[in-house]
Amino acid sequence: MQASLEISERPDGSPAAAPRFLIRTVGCQMNVHDGEKVGNLLLHRGWRPAAGLDDADLVIVNTCSIREKAEHRLYTDLGLLRAWKQAAPGRVIGVGGCVAQQEGDALLARAPQLDFVFGTHNLRHVPALAGAARAGERRADVAEDSSLERFDLPERHPDFRSATPGRAFLTVMEGCDMFCSFCIVPRTRGREISRPASAIVAEAEALARRGVVELTLLGQTVNAYGRHDEKRGRAAEAGTEPFASLLRRIAAIPGIERIRYTSPHPIFFDADLVRAHGDLPALCPHVHLPAQSGSDAVLGRMRRRYGRERYLALVEALRAARPEIAITTDLIVGFPGETDADFEATLELVRSARFVDGFSFKYSPRPGTAAAGETDVVPEAVKQQRIEALVSLLRAQTLEYHRKRVGETVEILVEGPSRHGEGQIMGRDPANRVVNVDAPRAPGAPGPEAGERVRVRLVEALPHSLIGEIEGAGGPTSPL
Ligand code: 5AD
Ligand code: SF4
Repeated sequence: MQASLEISERPDGSPAAAPRFLIRTVGCQMNVHDGEKVGNLLLHRGWRPAAGLDDADLVIVNTCSIREKAEHRLYTDLGLLRAWKQAAPGRVIGVGGCVAQQEGDALLARAPQLDFVFGTHNLRHVPALAGAARAGERRADVAEDSSLERFDLPERHPDFRSATPGRAFLTVMEGCDMFCSFCIVPRTRGREISRPASAIVAEAEALARRGVVELTLLGQTVNAYGRHDEKRGRAAEAGTEPFASLLRRIAAIPGIERIRYTSPHPIFFDADLVRAHGDLPALCPHVHLPAQSGSDAVLGRMRRRYGRERYLALVEALRAARPEIAITTDLIVGFPGETDADFEATLELVRSARFVDGFSFKYSPRPGTAAAGETDVVPEAVKQQRIEALVSLLRAQTLEYHRKRVGETVEILVEGPSRHGEGQIMGRDPANRVVNVDAPRAPGAPGPEAGERVRVRLVEALPHSLIGEIEGAGGPTSPL
């Protein structure tokens, strides 16, 4: 789940006088998308992307506080940026994201090199904050905004560069009202709020017109989309609808070939959402379905509101709707009071659900959450043993799944050069598996470009990826 992204390319021919920004993002896909939104706002106000730290006038650190380790990264970054700021006059530093939301003014007091702080609801104010900072002001803007205005953002600027051409994130809802006992997110992202479906569809259409073929719909509990409006009988007024209906509308947009969504909560899958996985070819055969634990006792104390049986029944229903669906998950080890038997139940869930991959985390107490005061802590050495056992089981299942897929022909959306091997490109298949492919497609012919869809035959299974061979360019047909 951890990502690191720098928006830093310098477009040729941009005016030398324009101030330049660099955004460093840590954390989940919502954070990556917030970094994109801030970059886009700055572009619209005349800023230009910096090529690196050396030519940047503004550095924004977009932070994550999901675990202690992620939070500490900010303080390391701020330490390093102190020297950067002193090296040239006029340089400014901003901090956004979940740590910014929690700390607000306290961050300004703690880090004298810091110029401004913006909260998760205040992205729109960044250009003004950055301008004020250049004029010598120090400000924190972390006010909660329960209106829909925070979603009124400009379309992609012509100079906007997405990390992967052809692919885009699209926010459908924000916030979380679930308050799982381990999780800080409801305190950093605020209450659930859903955008009107018409605004989401309009944004998806605009992205499709600009050549986007793959959309990832985002929300902290994305499939809780519209639930509060429906419960209060104000869905028509708010312009929201059930999440499955929204998916159907987006799937009908010409040019949108692949749809993903993240992160769903298991209790918000209704029959129609499960059915959509069978009905909509554009809906990718992959669901990231955080389980957190396989023990009913632990799930209860985590306040997840489901048990192991209900979770497994959902997995089976999704498989019945779309037999080839790849299910991945998030799991926490060492939650307070987790016994050996509880942990065994988690391993058992991993086998029963046949996860094809997953992220495993050691429980990290987050101040302000319900579980933070628990005294029945699991020793670090036990957490370490458990995470190693869990990771090794997941690795084995991933490899087994990859082996089963060898021989299939799939379409990949090319992301760029592969991290391994010279001359290889990397892309993802509809199940979100990384596929590395030898390029170019024929001797002397140009290799596939980022954003291009290419049909490949899967020829070899590796623990973290698959190797494919190019068959021919993909057409605008079904992603399978
Ligand atoms: N400790 C460890 N892992 C956590 N996660 C959320 N909060 C914590 C915490 N306090 C994990 C969950 C979640 C993922 C994004 O991070 O598994 O799904
Ligand atoms: Fe955190 Fe639970 Fe909300 Fe997910 S559903 S963001 S784990 S509180």
